Amino acid sequence: MANVKLAIVYYSSTGTIHKMAERLSQAGEKAGAEVRLRQVAELAPEEAIASNAAWSQHFDNTKNEPKAAADDLVWADAVLFGTPTRYGNVASQLKQFMDTLGPQWQAGQLANKAYAGFTASMTAHGGQESTLLALYNSIYHWGGIIAAPGYTDPLKFADGNPYGVSHVTGGGNDAPLTETEFAALDHLAQRVVLIGGKLKN
Ligand SMILES: Cc1cc2nc3c(=O)[nH]c(=O)nc-3n(C[C@H](O)[C@H](O)[C@H](O)COP(=O)(O)O)c2cc1C
Repeated sequence: MANVKLAIVYYSSTGTIHKMAERLSQAGEKAGAEVRLRQVAELAPEEAIASNAAWSQHFDNTKNEPKAAADDLVWADAVLFGTPTRYGNVASQLKQFMDTLGPQWQAGQLANKAYAGFTASMTAHGGQESTLLALYNSIYHWGGIIAAPGYTDPLKFADGNPYGVSHVTGGGNDAPLTETEFAALDHLAQRVVLIGGKLKN
């Protein structure tokens, strides 16, 4: 849908959510949206990052990428939030960004947009759905419209997550994204752009 503005705002420690966000960005552009792909700032102490080679490497590779700002949400008609699961919850780095948005919330600038989320966990059923539901709690408070994918396309019966899109990274934390998940990510981007466009008009 033309003239829809899509913000993809995410946190990723070891790159999984980053890869999902990149695919969503491509799909959003294919759907005709103007896309801002933004990572939130890393907040973990240096020693925590240094303790994990994959985390250090991802941090170094992406540290110069554009960072999310409140204006990215004010600007957007549609928003996709990405977070790895943290004990079944939203990563504190993304939550911290959301917690800076009080002025925009109070001014009603976060309301009436289409929102949805994507996540990853190491284990199957490791908290993916609870992470997305926890993410959506804040969006209800903003007056955002949750554009969950549901089972609105036959492909959702393959990836199986009606709350958003999710990936299991496995014991090595590096299982690649599958074609089923790429298809689900494309559908998520198309849907949030479609609904964001309808809300705008
Ligand atoms: C502090 C912490 C808590 C986590 N909690 C869970 C969990 O509850 N269930 C699970 O399956 N994976 C859990 N994980 C694994 C991450 O969700 C997984 O590494 C992440 O989704 C990978 O995304 P990323 O590569 O974008 O960082 C946890 C990881 C960390 C560091």
